[in-house]
Amino acid sequence: MSWMRDSSLNWAQKFALKVIKTGKIPRHVAFIMDGNRRYAKKLHLTTSTDGHVHGFDKLAEALQWCLDIGIEEVTVYAFSIENFKRDESEVNALLELAREKFNKFMEESDELNKRGICIRMIGNWKLLPVDLQKSMADAMLMTRNNNKAFLNVAFAYTSRDEITESIRDIVDGVKRNELESNDITDDLIRRCMYSGKSSDPDLLVRTSGESRLSDFLLWQASTSIIYFTKTLWPEFTFWHLLAGVFYYQRHYQSMHSVKRSLHQFSSVMDDESFTKDLEQVRQTSNIAEIETSSKLATFSQRATEFLEKFDKRKYNQLVELSTIKV
Ligand code: FPP
Ligand code: MG
Repeated sequence: MSWMRDSSLNWAQKFALKVIKTGKIPRHVAFIMDGNRRYAKKLHLTTSTDGHVHGFDKLAEALQWCLDIGIEEVTVYAFSIENFKRDESEVNALLELAREKFNKFMEESDELNKRGICIRMIGNWKLLPVDLQKSMADAMLMTRNNNKAFLNVAFAYTSRDEITESIRDIVDGVKRNELESNDITDDLIRRCMYSGKSSDPDLLVRTSGESRLSDFLLWQASTSIIYFTKTLWPEFTFWHLLAGVFYYQRHYQSMHSVKRSLHQFSSVMDDESFTKDLEQVRQTSNIAEIETSSKLATFSQRATEFLEKFDKRKYNQLVELSTIKV
């Protein structure tokens, strides 16, 4: 099954979309796609893996709804480091599903590039089989210059691991004399995370009735609006997504005030000038420069040079992985 769907909204959905578009649309939505195994059980499917296969199909559908709504960036929790503790057969099946889907991703490269979709894998790659690391590197390199829509797939990911690895990279920078301790800011830690090129999510949706974050984007979601729904992920519909966006619209103003007060001593910009600045950064650098809680991050000259080297190292690692023969 493909990563892409054609837009297929019926008249009622199109009408509801017009109404919701009169309000504020979240730029970045994150999903904890929970409930696949319960879905498999509910439908008496043969294995829990069947639930994950339906989960992937739902992801492809949901990505198209996000594009329909005008959501530019999506982050999904596809496989946590904790998931390695599941039955060996389930872990292997999830890794095999990822292999199959990333191969499919490469087959669909022309269409993905035509649609301007950039994919980024966020997670601890060292924990994954090398062939999968190579497929992920290929997918990232192939779409790295696209900037119409961003899809971040969290795989072998937990937030605490992401923060730990970011700090490790910064400590290495200090050891190499590329950084001094007063260059270390929360923005630098954020920028060195796996998701360092992404903005913070405006809305985070978790399905299946669980009301917790399960070590997902703990840093980035500090000012996100969080919407919990009882629906199992494979049963998630356009209407559930719209309900999430509506929930965001109802809570946006109060969260915006929180963000403003958080940054009252730093350079807070109003929404309009912030969006304009962000747009300019995107057009000139061809990447989504980091946006943290409604402000663009600023770094010292030394930290900026460190980040240039950091990005180059990460890029070289991708190129190295993609040249591996498997
Ligand atoms: C949580 O449901 C879901 C997962 C651990 C896997 C999610 C993966 C996909 C939707 C496929 C994505 C694949 C790619 C390649 C991006 P659960 O297993 O915890 O179900 P439960 O809560 O009912 O037990
Ligand atoms: Mg679960």
